[in-house]
Amino acid sequence: MNEKPWLKNIKPYPPGKTLEELKKELQLDGPIYKLNSNENPLGPSPKVISVLAEALQEIHLYPEASYLSLRTSIAEKWNISPEEIILGNGSNEVIEFIFKAYLNPEDEIIISTPSFLMYEKFAEIYGVRVIKIPLDKNLNHDFVAIIDSITPKVKAIFIDHPHNPTGQVHPKEIWENLLKALPKEILLVIDEAYGDFIEDPEVPQGIEFFRAGYQVLILRTFSKAFGLAGLRLGYGMGPREIINTLNKVRQPFNVNILAVKAGLASLKDREYAENYVNLVKKERAYLTRALKELGFKVYPSQANFLMVDFGKQCSLIYEGLLKRGIILRPLKAYGFPTALRITIGNEEANRVLVENLNWLIKEVN
Ligand SMILES: Cc1ncc(COP(=O)(O)O)c(C=O)c1O
Repeated sequence: MNEKPWLKNIKPYPPGKTLEELKKELQLDGPIYKLNSNENPLGPSPKVISVLAEALQEIHLYPEASYLSLRTSIAEKWNISPEEIILGNGSNEVIEFIFKAYLNPEDEIIISTPSFLMYEKFAEIYGVRVIKIPLDKNLNHDFVAIIDSITPKVKAIFIDHPHNPTGQVHPKEIWENLLKALPKEILLVIDEAYGDFIEDPEVPQGIEFFRAGYQVLILRTFSKAFGLAGLRLGYGMGPREIINTLNKVRQPFNVNILAVKAGLASLKDREYAENYVNLVKKERAYLTRALKELGFKVYPSQANFLMVDFGKQCSLIYEGLLKRGIILRPLKAYGFPTALRITIGNEEANRVLVENLNWLIKEVN
């Protein structure tokens, strides 16, 4: 069998290692602090866990085909209609729906480089050309250069906001400049996987732009604030015509029954997610301060992670922390060979990290 010619050079997505892999590899007795995949260290709410335990009795059944109950619950949260929502097996799947439904080989998309790796990955899989716009000198999305690079072949623009891996965000007027300049035929995808962690009141939620009538698709996930990464549940919100089209390429039962039940229970237990979001905000401030005091460059983040430049000693610091059971994400694949991405952990993990860094910098210098 000959594979499609454009698949030849595709390299697999470089995921963070799992806890099992790490335990085996590191042979550590003590605790492991997994701060490499922006997961929620507290896990889902106990109410969600008990709903899931009960739902295990139903896993021989297919889930509700329309997912109307969960779409209705999400719609209530955002004050939109269930017809304006599509569910995905993680928000990743919603990204793929856009490629399946709208993008032909030789069409073009625009992304920032670096940004979340899956936009480019799906483009490779579907033979779509990618126009890559470097971040500006402050490592923000360069919306002016993005507008300038639009060609007649561009069908969609993908913007992660907060950006992965920097965690940076844009104020409303910068977004409005982009939205006003966009031709009607182009879909702007605003990926808010980390939208729950935004604290800055100047920073808009993409849903405002949807309500204002712009052609945008907003992506959200239950993987981060709700701690359901392993169940795979995300969704897109946008104009009905777009949601209808995306639904045509969605296979039936793409979201499993446990994810549906957990999603519904999570939305009922808002307080739990709010507590985690507040923890992230408090600990993000703590870690930013502590790492700056140690002399590292920390990028201002509105997400549940920080990008930190460790300079020449980056690899030694990464390896040293690994040996101590603290796992961070190297950012070489994102073009930042001297930086690491640190998921904000619980209070203990963050303090153990700072303590060990304190130690290590004396050792490596
Ligand atoms: C910017 C961004 N978008 C989307 C995703 C995918 O999330 P999900 O688990 O919902 O597929 C991630 C995951 O880390 C991400 O960083």
